[in-house]
Amino acid sequence: MTTIPMAASHPGIQDSPKIRVVVTGKGGVGKTTLTALLAHTCAGQGYSVLAVDGDPQQNLAATLGLYGDEAAAIVPLAERSDYIAEKTGTGPGSRGLMVLNPDTADVVERAGTIVDVRLRLLVMGGVKNAGSGCLCPEYSLLASVLRNARSLPDEIVLLDTPAGLEHFGRAVAEGFDMALIVSDGSYNAMTVARDLCRLAKESGIRDRVLIVNRVRGTTRLQHIRTLAGDSFSRVFTLPDDPCVPRHEPSVVPLLGSDCPVMAAVKDLAGSIIAERAGS
Ligand SMILES: Nc1ncnc2c1ncn2[C@@H]1O[C@H](COP(=O)(O)OP(=O)(O)O)[C@@H](O)[C@H]1O
Ligand SMILES: [Mg+2]
Repeated sequence: MTTIPMAASHPGIQDSPKIRVVVTGKGGVGKTTLTALLAHTCAGQGYSVLAVDGDPQQNLAATLGLYGDEAAAIVPLAERSDYIAEKTGTGPGSRGLMVLNPDTADVVERAGTIVDVRLRLLVMGGVKNAGSGCLCPEYSLLASVLRNARSLPDEIVLLDTPAGLEHFGRAVAEGFDMALIVSDGSYNAMTVARDLCRLAKESGIRDRVLIVNRVRGTTRLQHIRTLAGDSFSRVFTLPDDPCVPRHEPSVVPLLGSDCPVMAAVKDLAGSIIAERAGS
């Protein structure tokens, strides 16, 4: 597998409007599926997209359609000790002072994976004690990448997360403009979504979108809107679609299909693309 510098192949990309989107919500509600569908859809519409796997479980690659050797060749950023040492100044011969906010604008050129013509993937990997914000070089480097997400060259950055926002919470809030907070119709998922929305609002993420996933005829949308409260900027719904589990884990067979979820994903992608202008 080769890494091709995308910015070089897209002259002018540095100057075009950008948007940084974090996808969050309770476990199992469809965050990774949605991130992968949006990434392919936005790239298919001509935008340069970076998908970032911020979940230590690392299943975004397979959901984007990478398997076998391609997937096996991915080295998560947290395990790229040379890059981490270079950027944080903690390599051999360093004088022991760690650089806390290094310039990581080259991170995708150095550690990213090509998924498709305009779509790249960056896998963060797991960092021990990430939740407690440890002062280890890996944590510091990963947090810098997220905090400085606006300096990445890609027009659209989509960050898939584990359940919750506490992982790199402050760094995400600094680097990201929009939160897609995914829920299913259940009370528990909606409670998590509401807490996440409050957190996102408090930390200054200006656009907070509730995504109600797996909506069926029996889903009580009015009840869900009441549970949601008034902190969300808007609400999108995605249908429960048998196409999704049929092709699991990859979303690639859904692209260009007339599977019901695709119309809703295209709408949402259009809205993200439109928001770039205001970012
Ligand atoms: N719109 C949908 N319709 C049907 N199944 C879905 C839909 N979205 C996600 N799923 C399924 O839900 C499960 C959890 O999705 P996943 O994206 O892994 O959730 P998360 O990343 O939030 O843990 C997967 O089996 C996935 O195929
Ligand atoms: Mg996931």
